[in-house]
Amino acid sequence: MRTRTHPDPLHGPASKTIVITGVTRGLGRAMLEEFHRLGHRVLGCARSRGDVDVLRRDFGTGHWFDTVNVAEDEQVQRWARHVLAEFEPPDLVLNNAAVMNDVRPLWQVPAEEFAQVLDVNLKGVANVIRHFVPAMMVRGSGVIVNFSSGWGRSTDPGVAPYCATKWAVEGLTRALAQELPPGLAALALNPGVINTDMLRQCWPEQARAFEDPHRWARRVVPWLLSLDATANGAVLTAPTH
Ligand SMILES: NC(=O)c1ccc[n+]([C@@H]2O[C@H](COP(=O)([O-])OP(=O)(O)OC[C@H]3O[C@@H](n4cnc5c(N)ncnc54)[C@H](OP(=O)(O)O)[C@@H]3O)[C@@H](O)[C@H]2O)c1
Repeated sequence: MRTRTHPDPLHGPASKTIVITGVTRGLGRAMLEEFHRLGHRVLGCARSRGDVDVLRRDFGTGHWFDTVNVAEDEQVQRWARHVLAEFEPPDLVLNNAAVMNDVRPLWQVPAEEFAQVLDVNLKGVANVIRHFVPAMMVRGSGVIVNFSSGWGRSTDPGVAPYCATKWAVEGLTRALAQELPPGLAALALNPGVINTDMLRQCWPEQARAFEDPHRWARRVVPWLLSLDATANGAVLTAPTH
C-alpha cells in the first residue's frame, strides 16, 4: 500500500479520492464543495492560476489543486505523476472540463476555435485517461465519468463543434469500457441543463431559468459516489430528483 504523504484528520477510512477537471467554476466547483462537505478528497485542476489559488486558500489542506490545461498532454502527465506520488489512485475521475464554441454556423467557425474545442473536450478527456487509468488498474478499482451532454446525443444549429466533441466522448467512452479490466468502469454522463458560465454563453437570455449548480451538485454528488464497476459502459443522465 502506498504511503500517503498528505494525511489529514478530515478524511476518514470511508473517504474517497476524486479527480475533477475544470474545478474552478460551474459544475466542477459545485461538485468540489459537495465532495468537501461530505468529507472526500478532491484533486482538481483548471487553467486559470488566480482561480486555482482561490481554491487553495478556501479549501485548505486535504485537497490538491493545480493549474493544468487538459488539452496539453505533457501538463496532464506532470499533474498525474505529481498527485499519484502524493495520494492514492482516484476512486472517481470526473472528466468535467470543457469549452463551448461561440454559437454560429459551422462554416463560420474559425479553424483555431474548432481545434480548441476538440483539443479540450476530446483530447483532454483522453489525456486524463492516459495518465490516471494505469494507476487505477494497478489498484484494481475506480470509476471514470466522462461528461457528455444532451448535445452528445442530439444536435442543434450553432453548436456543431461542441456536438462533435460530445458525440465523440460518447463513442470513446463505450470503447474504453470494453477495454477496461474488471473492477473499473467508464461511463458517459449527460449532466442535464444547469445555469453555469457555459450555459450563459449559449443561452444568455434563458440560462437563469435553469437549475443552480450547487443545488444540482447536492443531488448528483451522492449519486456519483454510489457508482461502481457495474456501471461500466453505461450511458447515463444525471438524476433530476
Ligand atoms: N452547464 C450545462 O448546462 C451543461 C449541459 C451539458 C453538459 N455540460 C458539461 O458539463 C461540464 C461542465 O460544464 P460547466 O457548465 O460547469 O462549464 P463552465 O461553467 O464553463 O466551467 C468549465 C470549467 O472547466 C475549466 N476548463 C475549461 N477548459 C479547461 C482546460 N483546457 N483545462 C482545464 N480546465 C478547463 C474552467 O476553468 P478555466 O477556464 O480556468 O480553465 C471551468 O472551471 C462540461 O463537460 C460541459 O460540456 C454542461
